[in-house]
Amino acid sequence: MVSDLDEVRVAAALGGVRLGRPLKVVAQTHSTNDDARNGAANGAPHGATFVADSQTAGRGRGGHTWHSPPGSNVYTSVVLRPNLNVAEIAPITSAVGLAVVRTVVRYVSGAMRVALKWPNDVFVNDKKIAGVLVEGQLRGDKLASLVAGIGLNVHMRDLPPDIAATATSLALAGAERLDRSEILATLLGELERAIESFERSRLHEMIEEIRERDWLRGRFIRTGETCGVADGIAEDGSLWIRDERGERRLVRSGEVLAEQQT
Ligand code: BTN
Repeated sequence: MVSDLDEVRVAAALGGVRLGRPLKVVAQTHSTNDDARNGAANGAPHGATFVADSQTAGRGRGGHTWHSPPGSNVYTSVVLRPNLNVAEIAPITSAVGLAVVRTVVRYVSGAMRVALKWPNDVFVNDKKIAGVLVEGQLRGDKLASLVAGIGLNVHMRDLPPDIAATATSLALAGAERLDRSEILATLLGELERAIESFERSRLHEMIEEIRERDWLRGRFIRTGETCGVADGIAEDGSLWIRDERGERRLVRSGEVLAEQQT
């Protein structure tokens, strides 16, 4: 079968998008994030994009494994060299998440709720369809490069038991005529739009859209030592939590476990 993930077709579908240049699509790798990080260390420019049809050591946040079978999904990592200080970069992860939301919205029915689980998991009707892993490389105390790694489930219908109840794919969400080359080009275009916006004004231009897509709001959550009800996203991308005494606290990073909706 001819693969729907093809370097030449992705390049053709990119049009005027500047990310995705250069573009490297391979059949298999350990992790595209490692490929991109090595590429960045060897001078790969802003926009260099590493893609694999399958990963043998795909990883997610918090040391989780990212299920990466062949012929199924989009696994990509993009080298970014934004003009930002180290102290400014943490919320870029929500900008990348929003780019994935905007991509998914184009492929699923408008009746589906596409949401962003802070800071950057993408859900369709309460099931995870995509994850984002942003990793930074420093030179001294300066930001040398970032790698934005994105895994987006596309054709996958057989989910492994550990994620069967909580994950989905574009195919399972009812999307038709799915073509990974076209989806990847769309994703790179949306990523470019979000990163340019972030460079201009951090989350300022995107914050209302991020808030509209907030999956956690109103849910009882636990992150690190803090638990309470998720109470929205602050302008700087941090998460508000209202604790049992009614006090609001800001959480800047961390893995969030959602327990229930209030
Ligand atoms: C998460 O949800 O925890 C983030 C998952 C990120 C997975 C992608 S797949 C492409 C890139 N390569 C990796 O090893 N991880 C990211």
